Amino acid sequence: MKEPINSQPEEKPLLKLKNVSKSFPGVKALDGVELDVRAGEVHALLGENGAGKSTLMKILAGIYQPDGGEVILEDQLVHMSSPLEAREHGVLLIHQELSLVPDMTVAENVFLGNIPRFANIFVNNRHLNERCGEILTRLNCKFKPTEKLGNLSIANQQMVEIARALVFQPKVVVFDEPTASLTDYEKVVLFGVIRELKESGTAIVYISHRMDEIFELSDRISVLRDGTYQGTFYTRQTNEDEVTQRMIGRDLDADIEHQPPELGAKALQVSGLGIEGLYSDISFDVHAGEVVGFYGLVGAGRTEIMETIFGLRKPDSGSVQINGQNLAINSPSDAIDHGLGLVPESRKEQGLVLGMSCKDNTTLANISEFTKLGWIDTSAERKVFEEYMDKLRIKCPGWEYSTLNLSGGNQQKVVIGKWLSTSPKILILDEPTRGIDVGSKSEIHHLIRELAKTGLAVIVVSSEMPEVLTVSDRIIAMYDGRITRCFDRGEVTEDTLIRAITGQTER
Ligand SMILES: Nc1ncnc2c1ncn2[C@@H]1O[C@H](COP(=O)(O)OP(=O)(O)OP(=O)(O)O)[C@@H](O)[C@H]1O
Ligand SMILES: [Mg+2]
Repeated sequence: MKEPINSQPEEKPLLKLKNVSKSFPGVKALDGVELDVRAGEVHALLGENGAGKSTLMKILAGIYQPDGGEVILEDQLVHMSSPLEAREHGVLLIHQELSLVPDMTVAENVFLGNIPRFANIFVNNRHLNERCGEILTRLNCKFKPTEKLGNLSIANQQMVEIARALVFQPKVVVFDEPTASLTDYEKVVLFGVIRELKESGTAIVYISHRMDEIFELSDRISVLRDGTYQGTFYTRQTNEDEVTQRMIGRDLDADIEHQPPELGAKALQVSGLGIEGLYSDISFDVHAGEVVGFYGLVGAGRTEIMETIFGLRKPDSGSVQINGQNLAINSPSDAIDHGLGLVPESRKEQGLVLGMSCKDNTTLANISEFTKLGWIDTSAERKVFEEYMDKLRIKCPGWEYSTLNLSGGNQQKVVIGKWLSTSPKILILDEPTRGIDVGSKSEIHHLIRELAKTGLAVIVVSSEMPEVLTVSDRIIAMYDGRITRCFDRGEVTEDTLIRAITGQTER
């Protein structure tokens, strides 16, 4: 294997992190980490879930204090004791988990901590909204500066975070998994913004689990593994295999060998389902033992259909049959009683109670199973959590650990474990590997195939083509609230699939 390069002496870094360490109770999150970032470069930070990427960046942004090490900005040793101080030094972090205030307007959020004041006292709202409007136009956003942030979709809220980067004219901007909830179009806009910042000499740190993005955008790549620094590579001189090797310390599991499914009875049959304005005329079925992929662009209506099946929305028309029976599913608890499980798209809002322990989150959906005469059987709960911690490789010091303190990807794994522990007959996974590193991703794909083999009916909603192609026996393509085509595994090609999700084919 090639030895990674370090920065060349003639290229002076704008930012240097030296020998940075940080421990949390039970976890050494960072151990002597190095990073240097130059002006005008996009520097990708790569590592498995829980490797320490967000922690390192939170230290840089003054959110956490390091136990040891130095932050050097333009040759000066700096102490960032708060996010405000970091911003005064020109460092801005765009968070993985949104950090905006839902009750304030878009404009107020954009200027958060930096509100232009009139005569230093009054906030000039008109001025605020005007300046915000200009930035939103630049970002091609369709919503208004005066809109309440909480009313926006997650993707639009993410755009508001990004708008903040343009207000501060920072020296260093960190993007921590910015594209996880963006549509392809918004992603193009974001990449434009990043290139603009780069041209203007800003140093950019970019964190993502999507290799295609990293290779498209970055100039150099630094790798972390288990809180340790694994080296820096020039993007043009390396490749996915090499950095993945560095990142997970082994080669990626071999590709899934696809065996045709052993189909059981029809587990789920959806006929003519529709909700005015969201989707219409949705009919499909899923057999026991089968994985059906739902592929389409963000906004095609896939999530809404799954939420309807799970009792979170009321359909205007159509019916859902489970095991050949018409059942009334009016709430998620009806759905769970009938053997349905849903791993939702947004783990923070729908999937986890962040203040609760890993164990309690895992058993939350079927707590009655663990309750005997009013007592909760904690050791049984623990066993279940530990089983999934192992199966899903959840990086966490123990069952009592609060999910609030887990890395983003590990939170997602706890949500998956929670639903698997309900032993569902029909399992719906909505964007199951969003924010999950490449190593764990392939493990989750294996797990999905295994689950189907044991007789589960599985639906996977995904916006990632390689993912649907890897896991599905059949693929249902959606465009604008309708099913455009249904492919058998053997007949699908990338080209026909793309045409189907962009409305270029008729049923
Ligand atoms: N506030 C905290 N309290 C306790 N432990 C924490 C805290 N923040 C992070 N950790 C732990 O530190 C380790 C590194 O987490 P970090 O969030 O930096 O990972 P990451 O590389 O960003 O992962 P991901 O790709 O999943 O976002 C994890 O084991 C995590 O559980
Ligand atoms: Mg992170």
